[in-house]
Amino acid sequence: MTDTITLAHLSDVHLSPVRGLGLRQLNVKRSLGYINWQRSRRRVHLLTALDLVVADMKEYQPDHIAVTGDLINLGLPAEYEVARTWLESLGDPRDVTVVPGNHDIYTNLRGDPGVARWAEYMRADAWGEQLVPENAPPFPFVRRIGPVALICLNSAVETPPFVAAGELGAPQLAALASLLEQTEREGLVRVVLIHHPPLPDLAPPRRALRDAVKLARVLEENGAELVLHGHNHRDHHLDFAWARGRIPVIGIASGSMGRVHKHEPLGRYNLLRITRTSSGAQIECTTRGLDPTAAFIEHVDHKLIS
Ligand SMILES: [Fe+2]
Ligand SMILES: [Fe+2]
Repeated sequence: MTDTITLAHLSDVHLSPVRGLGLRQLNVKRSLGYINWQRSRRRVHLLTALDLVVADMKEYQPDHIAVTGDLINLGLPAEYEVARTWLESLGDPRDVTVVPGNHDIYTNLRGDPGVARWAEYMRADAWGEQLVPENAPPFPFVRRIGPVALICLNSAVETPPFVAAGELGAPQLAALASLLEQTEREGLVRVVLIHHPPLPDLAPPRRALRDAVKLARVLEENGAELVLHGHNHRDHHLDFAWARGRIPVIGIASGSMGRVHKHEPLGRYNLLRITRTSSGAQIECTTRGLDPTAAFIEHVDHKLIS
């Protein structure tokens, strides 16, 4: 692999239909979530839209695919199984990396393995294993794709009804700081994956990352070349200043929207062309997504982000 790679970024596919909701799985959170799904979300997150998005993405033969969470909706055992099959259709676990979203770690699972079914897509490669102590928690984990170190966080925590907030916690933040430092020393392009928007004020408190201020401090002190997130179902780009430059923070909208809903655009994804340079990285971002009739995929945007 050269010093340039293409990373595809897809998020919030919210696979439909919701299946496997029985009395045994019912609680207040799932009941309210199911009502919301039936009333609106099931009409907009369409597999037909997602299939077009994924087919287009595969034509570009990205070196790697990053999926930043919310693969499913109500945290039901059958949904995890469906998502596992979908991930297999997306690619080999070596070529696809997943971090969970709030809909993937949704409510009490009563012993069900939940996202553990996707473990192969959410673990370090042999190189990344050496960067963390033995018996370290599963997140953050790191993978190497050419010149890129993918540093993968889990911001999803079980929450009460009407709350879609996330939290990293002190151990994960400390491990992230160490990994950013180690991978910079190795001269790698550091790309951080997280479901929730990583900085303060990017989501209302009920939906935000609770320790975003602390994450911002870690990024400010240690830097990164790129942060990718989902959750808001909207495209987003800002540059965050750190001690020695700026970090592009890029959010991608949902990959499965087949109809416009609450200002959320139709299904789309990003192709990030990342080149290691003597001063860090050059990153180009191409957005592709459904045309207004939702019949085919078209070019949406292209920009040089660093
Ligand atoms: Fe989502
Ligand atoms: Fe989310």
